[in-house]
Amino acid sequence: MRNSSGGIEQRPVDRRAGYMVMENLKTMIKKAGQMILAADLEHADVEVKSSRGDLRTIYDTAVEEFLRQELGRLWPEAQFIGEESGLQKREAERYCFIVDPIDGTANFAWGYHHSAVSIALARGERIMAGLVYNPYLDELFHARAGEGAYLNGRPIRVSQRSLQDGMVSFGTSPYDKTKAAATFSLARLLYENALDVRRSGSAALDLCYVACGRCELFYEMSLYPWDYAAGSLIIAEAGGLLATMEGGELRFSDRTTLVAGGPPAFHDFWELYK
Ligand code: IPD
Ligand code: CA
Ligand code: CA
Repeated sequence: MRNSSGGIEQRPVDRRAGYMVMENLKTMIKKAGQMILAADLEHADVEVKSSRGDLRTIYDTAVEEFLRQELGRLWPEAQFIGEESGLQKREAERYCFIVDPIDGTANFAWGYHHSAVSIALARGERIMAGLVYNPYLDELFHARAGEGAYLNGRPIRVSQRSLQDGMVSFGTSPYDKTKAAATFSLARLLYENALDVRRSGSAALDLCYVACGRCELFYEMSLYPWDYAAGSLIIAEAGGLLATMEGGELRFSDRTTLVAGGPPAFHDFWELYK
């Protein structure tokens, strides 16, 4: 049943259970963040996966394994999908954790200090909970469906600035360089129509920065569900709008294009991108 704000109406006992799960997830994601902070970058063993730009270190594997075990203990019936173990078919009605152990692996391995751990809880095509933790700034973004979005426990909202008065961040889809021409011609168009552009190296944090009004718009032409599942709920719960760049609804089973923003900048984007 939906309530007046569009969220799912929950019985008090469900709300309490949801709260407890979220508290456990917060503790867990912070422990994963500690693993990132404690990493020895001299011995991170950077490995190239599918293509140049698609990287893995021993810490990506270790953090994912830690979360797989902890999440399995917390909720044994739930499915687990993590970047390092790859996409799997999801069972429609089964709860599923979608995890990126380190979003921003290149930033991590280069000592750039802008990476995050991302955990989403999905059921079918609906994201029920999302957490994104940046251990370098000790910033934890979280949301539960229908209950708002928060940064370190304080409510956050998207920006109401127009595109013309706003910042645009974008991702370069580094796993797929065939997207480069389209990505950068759009970056130029948006640069000419906004204040400036940014490329941070972590899609999960880009989405959270839109959610808390540090940026007005974000787009990327190829992302995997673990990059955006948690961040997309955090933006939606902060009053933001999201779509594929073909104008469709976001799904969470395969790669996708994505654009997200505060409502004014999002509408301005479509005027330009028609
Ligand atoms: C990447 C980052 C990057 C984005 C890529 C992602 P990874 O994730 O989010 O900002 O441009 O598309 O794959 O590989 O560092 O987990
Ligand atoms: Ca990622
Ligand atoms: Ca990753």
